[in-house]
Amino acid sequence: MTKKYQETNSKYKYRVLVCAGGGCVSADCHEVKDALLQSLKENDLEDQVLVSETGCIGTCNLGPVMVVMPEEVFYTRLKPKDIPEIVKSHLVEGNILVNKTYFDMGALKRVPYLNEISFFKKQVKIALRNCGLIDYSSIDEYIANDGYKAVLKVLQEMTQEEVTQEITKSGLRGRGGAGFPAGIKWEAGRKAPGDQKYLICNADEGDPGAFMDRSIIEGDPHTIIEGMMIGGYAIGANKGFCYIRAEYPIAVERLEYALKQAREAGILGKNVFGTDFAFDIEIRIGAGAFVCGEETALMASVEGKRGEPKQKPPFPFQKGLFQKPTIINNVETLANIPPIILNGSEWFNGFGTEKSKGTKVFALAGDIVNTGLVEVPMGMTLREIVYDLGGGVPKKKAFKAAQMGGPSGGCIVSDDLDTPVDFDSLAQLGAIMGSGGLIVMNENNCMVDVAKFFMEFVQDESCGKCVPCRAGTKAILEVLDRILEGNGQENDIELMEKLCENIKKTAICGLGQTAPNPVLSTLRYFRDEYEEHIQNKPCRAGGNTK
Ligand SMILES: Cc1cc2nc3c(=O)[nH]c(=O)nc-3n(C[C@H](O)[C@H](O)[C@H](O)COP(=O)(O)O)c2cc1C
Repeated sequence: MTKKYQETNSKYKYRVLVCAGGGCVSADCHEVKDALLQSLKENDLEDQVLVSETGCIGTCNLGPVMVVMPEEVFYTRLKPKDIPEIVKSHLVEGNILVNKTYFDMGALKRVPYLNEISFFKKQVKIALRNCGLIDYSSIDEYIANDGYKAVLKVLQEMTQEEVTQEITKSGLRGRGGAGFPAGIKWEAGRKAPGDQKYLICNADEGDPGAFMDRSIIEGDPHTIIEGMMIGGYAIGANKGFCYIRAEYPIAVERLEYALKQAREAGILGKNVFGTDFAFDIEIRIGAGAFVCGEETALMASVEGKRGEPKQKPPFPFQKGLFQKPTIINNVETLANIPPIILNGSEWFNGFGTEKSKGTKVFALAGDIVNTGLVEVPMGMTLREIVYDLGGGVPKKKAFKAAQMGGPSGGCIVSDDLDTPVDFDSLAQLGAIMGSGGLIVMNENNCMVDVAKFFMEFVQDESCGKCVPCRAGTKAILEVLDRILEGNGQENDIELMEKLCENIKKTAICGLGQTAPNPVLSTLRYFRDEYEEHIQNKPCRAGGNTK
């Protein structure tokens, strides 16, 4: 397969990778691709230029974008009308059309080559290794890039115990928010007694601003299939479910197609690679309730019940889906598995910090020049992420804070910009890594308003099963509303603090237990803004006290 694929590819002089990540699709990348195909036809270049659609390259605010290989020239903000000129200049005459290439907003100049652009230079792509490089719809290309080699290795050379040990030694921690060691979880799944076990891929991603799981599935669906197969083998499961929210139709479509290809190639199903291992995967579409990302609610939803959480224990590895031992892993966690198996645990834990190994994908959003997707080694400072990769805050405004970890997280302020971004350092500052949403705020953002945004979100998304979460988040929101309307009362801050503590201690699930975090975090760093609002002074940030 690989040989045939390479022979077909080698006859082309150029390859053009058109980004078809969610951002570029909504910026009409398909019209750009159609214009490109048309222009190649008009110039008789169809036999010399191969056009492929690829996953998210990362620069989501510059779409549609495309890369011309082998030189790796990066064209951005494309319109169909730009294409004939690029084709003529670059692909016919061999001259890069510089004025359509990437513009560096910091250096105020064009930087045509991908590997010279600061946004890309400091990134290390493990989970995103194929996104932007291969055609997401081609199983041949996935295989030609070492795809399905890791699962083959596992089935031919490793026992279940060796696989879990390798993942434990790698230091990989779950990327879905809680950061639990992946190998230890798999080991618990392996040891759990039972003939029928399940492996679930959690693709419910609902944190405001986060889109890394969506981008991984859209750009490299076979990686998720392979990661799930390895997990299935390690714990002794023959069936996997991928739970994706309905708002991700492109991810669903591409994963469905990849599953079909894998089945047709004999990779999924009975006797995988001629062994007696059997594994298949079903997609389950969630209606888009944030709480369904919580593992017990997710399993209830897969079973066709209301997506409400249950008290733990029993943990899913003991009694999970349909009462059977179940392991649930996040998309990004699973995307790390094949390269760890192929390159070894030591290779992987060569990246990162002592207790946070490997890399992390972040979705940069908010007041930042380069919004988009980046993957960096754990331990990179927030300053490097925001300024070197993200290009800093637009219009030379001051950085005020970054909200990390979504509604369960908290903010990191400018004094802490040099903090290494890893699980433990962030927790010390009252934030969390979460799943990797990183929303930057400038000096004009009112932090009471920010707290209100997140409280509105969790209040909306609370399933209502437990009183602290249902009524408590509503009560906090009422206090925030009156503070922002200029009707705050003397003891409102203390009242909110009490409510927060009670919700944290008594809510059933992680959603409720962490719902107060944005309020507590903004109070920790910006208490004076709350006080100014209550004293009915204009908010220093320009917040909306009436
Ligand atoms: C309210 C709530 C929502 C969550 N949403 C997600 C999600 O969208 N995706 C995800 O992978 N994990 C989510 N989690 C964490 C999962 O429950 C679980 O810990 C994770 O999927 C385990 O995979 P990991 O160990 O590979 O990170 C959520 C947790 C809570 C409490």
